[in-house]
Amino acid sequence: MPAVFVTATGTEIGKTFVTAGLAVHLRQQGRKVAIIKPVVSGFDEKAIASSDPALLLEALGQEPSLAAIAAMSPWRFTAPLSPDMAARLEDGAIDFASLVSFCRSAIAQAEDVLLIEGIGGLMVPLTVGTTVLDLIEALRIVPIVVAGTYVGSLSHTLTALEVMRRRGIDLGALALNETPGSAASPEETAASLRNFCGTIPIITFRRDAAAANAEAFERLAELVKRRQS
Ligand SMILES: Nc1ncnc2c1ncn2[C@@H]1O[C@H](COP(=O)(O)OP(=O)(O)OP(=O)(O)O)[C@@H](O)[C@H]1O
Ligand SMILES: [Mg+2]
Repeated sequence: MPAVFVTATGTEIGKTFVTAGLAVHLRQQGRKVAIIKPVVSGFDEKAIASSDPALLLEALGQEPSLAAIAAMSPWRFTAPLSPDMAARLEDGAIDFASLVSFCRSAIAQAEDVLLIEGIGGLMVPLTVGTTVLDLIEALRIVPIVVAGTYVGSLSHTLTALEVMRRRGIDLGALALNETPGSAASPEETAASLRNFCGTIPIITFRRDAAAANAEAFERLAELVKRRQS
């Protein structure tokens, strides 16, 4: 498995946090890491430093130039909307086949590990009639799902797991990322989810806890390595 697809139960849950952290960790282990984030919305050319592609390039130790961002993220929308809605406003619909072939060629070119950050949640529409889930299915690569610990996340997470199970998609890991101010801890949330997850590994991340999170990234990197061999 040369590639990992990082998706989530929704937007702002922690995909970039997990993708960038995993990249940094793998690079520290001497691995050669590449990242793509094929579709970005809410992208402002005048404020690229805070954009997802810039943060991901930083994790790779690369300069976040506009050219590097364009190579990593060919589909960029200004509106902070789902890609199908943003495309309608900006007259730039995504061609699903081109998106799949962009990802496939990045997978084929990857020297070692390729991380792909999705957009929004697992079933956000990409085009009229396709979602991120369809992209994962078309690419046949193992996804990591990032989920939160907010009230309601259990249902969102189990819904995501169920839909993947029904599509026959084998989940690599569930990354449970603490939502700020949530009533339940990542460990309590994980304990509840474990009853439904079978053998899917659950890895917990805390808010602003570099040392504990380094251990969690170590476990995630180990899983990636195992899935590759
Ligand atoms: N464990 C954490 N500790 C500290 N900050 C975090 C953690 N997880 C996420 N964040 C912060 O929370 C915000 C949202 O996380 P992130 O950008 O990774 O979400 P996302 O799923 O990639 O969002 P999007 O759907 O916009 O791509 C970011 O500012 C990020 O730095
Ligand atoms: Mg992101």
